[in-house]
Amino acid sequence: MECVHDQNCSIHIGDGAVQLADDIPLRQENRNCIILCEEQAAELILPTLGDRCPNLRKQPLYYLDAREQNKQISSLLPLWQAWEADGIDRNTLVINIGGGVLCDMGGFAASIFKRGIPFINIPTTLLAMADASVGGKTAVNLDETKNVIGTFCRPEAVLIDPVFLGTLPEREFLSGMAELIKMQWIANPDFNIDQAEESFSSRPMLSALLHFAIEQKARITALDFKEGNIRKTLNFGHTFGHAFEALALKRQQRLTHGEAVAHGMVCELYLSWLMTGFERETFEICSAWIRKHYGIFQFSRQEIPELIAYMKADKKNIEGRVYPILLSAFGQCRFTQAVPESLLEKALSAYPFF
Ligand SMILES: NC(=O)c1ccc[n+]([C@@H]2O[C@H](COP(=O)([O-])OP(=O)(O)OC[C@H]3O[C@@H](n4cnc5c(N)ncnc54)[C@H](O)[C@@H]3O)[C@@H](O)[C@H]2O)c1
Repeated sequence: MECVHDQNCSIHIGDGAVQLADDIPLRQENRNCIILCEEQAAELILPTLGDRCPNLRKQPLYYLDAREQNKQISSLLPLWQAWEADGIDRNTLVINIGGGVLCDMGGFAASIFKRGIPFINIPTTLLAMADASVGGKTAVNLDETKNVIGTFCRPEAVLIDPVFLGTLPEREFLSGMAELIKMQWIANPDFNIDQAEESFSSRPMLSALLHFAIEQKARITALDFKEGNIRKTLNFGHTFGHAFEALALKRQQRLTHGEAVAHGMVCELYLSWLMTGFERETFEICSAWIRKHYGIFQFSRQEIPELIAYMKADKKNIEGRVYPILLSAFGQCRFTQAVPESLLEKALSAYPFF
């Protein structure tokens, strides 16, 4: 097992990591602990948690409907009311367990309850392990617009144990792979598409990608916790991706976060080719590879203005200008180049490019 530090948050990664939660109730002399589990996968997650951490079985358990369409501040009111009724206070540690939606919502709920109570994350999807549980961003959506209400607040610890991946559906596995590939493209100048392909079937390769993603995220968030500069690069693929996600939410269509990011990365690579000299051939190889694994996101020409309106609501925008992350090569990001609306439209009109 490996431990990576993100300031005062320790991130434990590897087989057996979840067992570190077992002694929490014993070592918390002046603190209580409660468990916040997502409702949807509770039947898959809780038996594993109980087997590995028998001391947690007796701790108070709260459930949250942690579906993306329920990732709204109003969904947290009943939880906060229950916490208040049960006397939860700043001496209580919340153990968040579930996918990225649960980690975002649970972290947010804890970070503002009584002006902040401590929490740890136990991510149970590949995407939450690779990205959402780490780095201290918590959030809920505002209607369809993604993650506009939130806080920067690190968990005390993150326990990343691959044991939970055993029950993950293939589609969710692919979703997490998209964030792992994103980190390769933004931070690994030696990215090799054959190795990425191998990680779909090789556990050691997958583990190497996961470690790389977490180490890079911890390194970048330590440099720029509140996303004033370099942390923006972690949003590669997300300007377009969040717009696709918002449109899908509005249509009540299922699109995983990773699928949205994968399609968004292709659009942002296209803009990179147009604006920063990213190699055309590499763009074509990458977009063909994304299409092979993730298909394409269908939208009509009439929906393009709506997608652009969602991009204009992006949190990274400055004075109404949209700043997708661009790459000049793998490992070389640009985050200070505004992209004019005409080019956003050009990318959406040209999508899926060939
Ligand atoms: N805070 C951040 O830095 C950050 C980064 C990336 C993504 N996110 C957010 O994360 C969310 C996406 O997270 P996600 O992809 O994990 O989606 P999710 O939380 O919706 O989980 C995906 C599905 O997997 C199920 N599931 C969870 N654990 C399981 C398990 N062990 N076995 C079987 N099924 C399981 C869930 O019930 C759900 O149906 C988005 O809302 C996104 O905005 C946040």
